[in-house]
Amino acid sequence: MDMILASNNAGKIKEINELLEGRYKIISLKEAGIEEEIPEPFFTFEENALAKAKYAYDRTGIVTFAEDSGLVVPALNGEPGVFSARYAGEPKSDLANTEKLLKELEGHTDRAAYYTTIICLAGLGGLHYFSGKCEGHIATEMRGEGGFGYDPVFIPAGYDQTFGELPAAVKSAVSHRAKAMKDFIAFLAQL
Ligand code: IMP
Repeated sequence: MDMILASNNAGKIKEINELLEGRYKIISLKEAGIEEEIPEPFFTFEENALAKAKYAYDRTGIVTFAEDSGLVVPALNGEPGVFSARYAGEPKSDLANTEKLLKELEGHTDRAAYYTTIICLAGLGGLHYFSGKCEGHIATEMRGEGGFGYDPVFIPAGYDQTFGELPAAVKSAVSHRAKAMKDFIAFLAQL
């Protein structure tokens, strides 16, 4: 079965393709004829994932899944949260976002954080949701080149290194995305 992945985030698409291990062919938004950015105007990950999945499914009639994710820092009242991709404003910049996060956390001793993700699947007899969470904390400086987004400052629970420094195989085993994708793949397998 071919499916649209309603995302333009290169880091996310790469990880999702690796987690799928070639089981399903992914059609990009561009290949599906959707050139414009899909609006994500909502304040919850669920609503934004639904908006992206529904947009592409309604336009094409092709089974679509979308993933909305972000970093939640309780000491910053949940920021950057659903605004993770644009925390430092436009144009979107992983580096500017990460620098802003480090600045906002200056002087905080509570640096706990978690990544969260919601996958919404549209077009296989309705809507289906899958979720994943990865607990950790925020380092005091950026370290490593791996991953994307906030990975150079995110240290997953049980490790001393950031996702930027750890081998990609560790992130594929313990990340929020890996957990949600595991349930998503199990759902597809039992159809
Ligand atoms: P979305 O594409 O609107 O879901 O935005 C997701 C944003 O959350 C990304 O642009 C990153 O800033 C952040 N994010 C989500 N997952 C990860 C991850 O695995 N590593 C680092 N940052 C992430």
